[in-house]
Amino acid sequence: MEKLVIRGDRDLRLKGEVRVSGAKNAVLPAIAASLLTSEQLRLSNIPHVKDVETILTLIAELGGSYEIAGDTVSLRVPKIRSDEASYELVRAMRASILVLGPLLARFGKAVVALPGGCAIGSRPIDLHIAGLQKLGATISLEHGYIQAQADRLHGAVIEFERKTVTGTENLLMAAALAKGETILKNCAMEPEVADLAVLLNKMGAKIDWVDEDTARVRGVKELGGATHDIIPDRIETGTFLVAGALTAGDCLVRGIVPENVGNIIDKLRASGATVETEGETALRVVGSRDVRAQDITTSPYPGFPTDMQAQFMVLLTQAAGTSIITETIFDRRFSHVNELVRLGASIEVQGDKAVVKGKTPLSGAEVVATDLRASAALVLAGLVAAGETTVTEIEHLDRGYERFEEKLRGLGASIERAGT
Ligand code: EPZ
Repeated sequence: MEKLVIRGDRDLRLKGEVRVSGAKNAVLPAIAASLLTSEQLRLSNIPHVKDVETILTLIAELGGSYEIAGDTVSLRVPKIRSDEASYELVRAMRASILVLGPLLARFGKAVVALPGGCAIGSRPIDLHIAGLQKLGATISLEHGYIQAQADRLHGAVIEFERKTVTGTENLLMAAALAKGETILKNCAMEPEVADLAVLLNKMGAKIDWVDEDTARVRGVKELGGATHDIIPDRIETGTFLVAGALTAGDCLVRGIVPENVGNIIDKLRASGATVETEGETALRVVGSRDVRAQDITTSPYPGFPTDMQAQFMVLLTQAAGTSIITETIFDRRFSHVNELVRLGASIEVQGDKAVVKGKTPLSGAEVVATDLRASAALVLAGLVAAGETTVTEIEHLDRGYERFEEKLRGLGASIERAGT
């Protein structure tokens, strides 16, 4: 198992430029969409992260083919030789559930392992299943697998009980090939969902937004190929903005979409950092040693993203005063708290709230990564912890951050990857 070794410095100031990669949570549904057509899909600006390897392996196992050239992947699924997404792959990445809708829509059958839970919560998929049943699928759960069948999906009116990112994505893809019109109400509006709709329309789908979170999908008989640029990763953007604020540094984060990180910018400014746009696709963050405490509540887009909760918590450990972080999206997304306490933070979890008391000087220690965003948070904390911090089990980090330590070194951090 690999680990990251960080030589922290309480007076560190990150400085310089960093370019973010394409969004993991945009490229995964885009790759799943290749199952909807027999023609070629070309996706550029893809991030080279573990989850992309995993879903490409899944597409190949189903019978598709792909080739990668630089940051572009070309995919083609003329037919499938299997309709099963194995537990082994789904357990490795629950976003494998994104093949359910496309397999059902194009081939009329899908056998997908139930994802199970993970470090951040129970992760049910009842809303995916309920929506697909409304479109006419027959779905049963047997031996830990979702067995789904449908001669031809038909349009329906579906209202999600709660906003679900991959649930919305699955239903957009399934409805695109259903017979007739589908209305999807209470859709998740994350930029990655909106961008999937753009891609599907490029492939010949007929999706339009009839109000801010209602999609109308007029089904078509078949979809064609397309070429598409993956949008920049807004969570990686937020992670580097927080890194600049945390170290009272001066960082230019490039290759981004500023309007996709509006809420993160607001909270950083409220904490005392300066954040300014530089041109259309870059943000400059200048941090301050006087970090202000504030309360944060995660909520669906355009609210404060749950995927930024752990990283922002690290900043708040350096704020003078008490901050209350309320996690409303997942039922167990505080596993990073115990590890931050090992580094010297003063945080107490009370139900869905974490009470952060600052300012607490941090000191280096060995800590364990438990999930993707927790890993990034522990690395950020290590940057400003006196002495050496070792973050182990960083396979979690590699699932969603491309060359993370290299990018941080480019900003002046002292961080190396080491074997076990
Ligand atoms: C997506 O997960 C992201 N993953 C997550 O990012 C992100 O944290 C999450 O959305 C919320 O923004 C990808 O896009 C691949 P949800 P997803 O369905 O779709 C409940 C990361 O770090 N729910 O929007 O699985 C669910 O339990 C990852 O990059 C149901 O109850 O999340 C949760 O409480 C982590 N039934 C809430 O809804 C369902 O059928 C939101 O989940 C589906 C979801």
